[in-house]
Amino acid sequence: MTEPDSRATELPLQGRRALVTGGSRGLGAATARRLARMGAEVVVTYRQRAQDADQVVADCNAHQPGARAEQLDLLDEDSVRALFERLSARGEELDLLIANAAATAFKPLLELKMHQIDKTFAISVRHFLLMAQLGFPLLQARGGRIIAVSGADTVGYIPGHGLLAAAKAGMETLVRYLACELGPHGVTTVGVLPGYLDTDSIRMMAGPFHPHLVAAEERTHPLREAATPDAVAETVAMLCRDEARWCNGEIVRTDGGGLFAYPGRFGQAWAMVPPDAIDPDTRDAPMLARTDEPQRPPPD
Ligand SMILES: NC(=O)c1ccc[n+]([C@@H]2O[C@H](COP(=O)([O-])OP(=O)(O)OC[C@H]3O[C@@H](n4cnc5c(N)ncnc54)[C@H](OP(=O)(O)O)[C@@H]3O)[C@@H](O)[C@H]2O)c1
Repeated sequence: MTEPDSRATELPLQGRRALVTGGSRGLGAATARRLARMGAEVVVTYRQRAQDADQVVADCNAHQPGARAEQLDLLDEDSVRALFERLSARGEELDLLIANAAATAFKPLLELKMHQIDKTFAISVRHFLLMAQLGFPLLQARGGRIIAVSGADTVGYIPGHGLLAAAKAGMETLVRYLACELGPHGVTTVGVLPGYLDTDSIRMMAGPFHPHLVAAEERTHPLREAATPDAVAETVAMLCRDEARWCNGEIVRTDGGGLFAYPGRFGQAWAMVPPDAIDPDTRDAPMLARTDEPQRPPPD
């Protein structure tokens, strides 16, 4: 009896080339490392943090030689064009184009500046589509796949996320249209939608409340964990496999049931809040003052 080819099962992406945008940190870095462990040759892009990207490349190369970092600024059309020109000049086709990088201003909608709107849409809509256009010939040659990372803010309200949510909703629509338009040419397109994901951007947004967020996830999430980049990268990796071809056009949630469970989790979370925190004394915070409280007389 012939032995099964264990390398074929352990290294399902052997001989494949993946481009991961925003691969210097967070989910992009975890995805790059995961794909290299599956045998893929990974091109990692970064915007500013070259050293972080170099570390990710070193980690990838330890598993699969051929990884490298490329600078890419998704705010700049020329930078996007230059990256794909470099790939073409090297004769490099792509099996996977993973549009992971994102950046925005986390603010209430009424406080947003026009340049912040333009930048957020430049990354997740304008230049996501440009990458799909420029990447298509490289992907078509290999029957490749585009994977776009969306987020939970398209599913439910997250304070300060309205702008990013609007851009990601646009990206999700592009995923579905690309699936229809590129599918006949052998290129598939899939979206991935993580829920809470413990990365730099969450730490920045939450500031001193970050440990509370993690604790809330650990106590109320159906899996009793706060999702890590490594955990979500497993789903991205799964969608990179040939077997995921029929996920074409889908936005695949990878939130561990956390989004569906949210109404119940909200109740659980509030049950843990001490009564004086639920009903705080807000008399010195005029914008929060309760209407059933006697109003103080106006100052003389
Ligand atoms: N964190 C969450 O809770 C969460 C939840 C759901 C979905 N997501 C989505 O998951 C993806 C990854 O998020 P993350 O939290 O891992 O990100 P992150 O830690 O904030 O890292 C952002 C990455 O994008 C790169 N980047 C930033 N601006 C760029 C630009 N203008 N052009 C090109 N690259 C740029 C950064 O490069 P440098 O390192 O060089 O700055 C970095 O590699 C994003 O699409 C995000 O919307 C995140």
